[in-house]
Amino acid sequence: MNKHSPLKAAIGGRSVDEITGSRRLRRMRKADWSRRLVQENHLKVDDLIWPIFLVDGVNVREPIDAMPGVERVSIDLAVKEAERAAKLGIPALATFPRVDGARKDLTGSHILDPDNLINRATRAIKEAVPQIGVITDAALDPFTDHGHDGILRNGVIVNDETVEQVAAAAVMQAAAGADIIAPSDMMDGRIGAIRDALDAGGFQDVAIMSYATKFASAFYGPYREAIGTSGLLKGDKKTYYLDPANAAEALREAEQDLAEGADMLMVKPGLPYLDIIRTLKNEFNVPMFAYQVSGEYSMIKAAAANGWIDGERAMMESLLGFKRAGCDGILTYFAPQAAKLLTA
Ligand code: PBG
Repeated sequence: MNKHSPLKAAIGGRSVDEITGSRRLRRMRKADWSRRLVQENHLKVDDLIWPIFLVDGVNVREPIDAMPGVERVSIDLAVKEAERAAKLGIPALATFPRVDGARKDLTGSHILDPDNLINRATRAIKEAVPQIGVITDAALDPFTDHGHDGILRNGVIVNDETVEQVAAAAVMQAAAGADIIAPSDMMDGRIGAIRDALDAGGFQDVAIMSYATKFASAFYGPYREAIGTSGLLKGDKKTYYLDPANAAEALREAEQDLAEGADMLMVKPGLPYLDIIRTLKNEFNVPMFAYQVSGEYSMIKAAAANGWIDGERAMMESLLGFKRAGCDGILTYFAPQAAKLLTA
């Protein structure tokens, strides 16, 4: 250490060892082996849930402009994707359908067709790849002609009627073989109603992952293109999704969903809401998930495509951030790409 450094005067005449009391945190960062030794959080393939988009037809693969690298696939190809995911060790898939416009209506009634796209896909995937978990969403938005998650009457998303329909849809999804029902609609009372309906139908083993704190977010844009609801949506979802400004309310939502019987909690979107994840994990210590949503995915992809960031490193850093915030798992469109890196 140079005791006569001209800069020493600038830091008040004390040496760095005097300032730190000889506590130097860089010691354990000096080499790869020491960094690995003290690494606190790890991302594993076991943490990944892969959301996939479904479309009618056979051997159909459609790119989604707003989500480079993500495609809508027909059921036969979804089965192939499920096989690929299982080989990579990804524990579960979450399915989202792009429903033909002719089947959409004011109440989203086609969600109650046992042979709709979601239910047919679940049956096909569980038959071919029984070892992978299938998570289905019981929200109405892919099925309504106005793009809202609930039934629209006189300009209002009616809560209780929507809950009845979501619960009935959940039972059909369970009957098709879904392992976890993940309702993304944010209606009051839906978790308890779904639990009751599943139990009454003999589906005690089917779990509920609550989209407990789903915020009214700008980050869902690309998803709405993916399922074909962007041109349909009238107004916004602020009367049922959470205000991005509210953390105490998020805590109440989560508490309520657990009381109603949720097995797991999810925070959505992910990166702008890491504080909510940490708060819920500390408060409830139940299995926690984040949904790294379409806009989060596309931002990383777009910046990488422009050469502005290293896309692979940004992907892995963002996923690790969820672990550090307290997540047990992450729904991410990066799942297969991340799984490949993690198992390489
Ligand atoms: C609606 C739903 C949304 C997403 C999945 N289901 C939000 C919305 O369209 O309002 C978003 C997923 C994503 O952005 O990746 N029930």
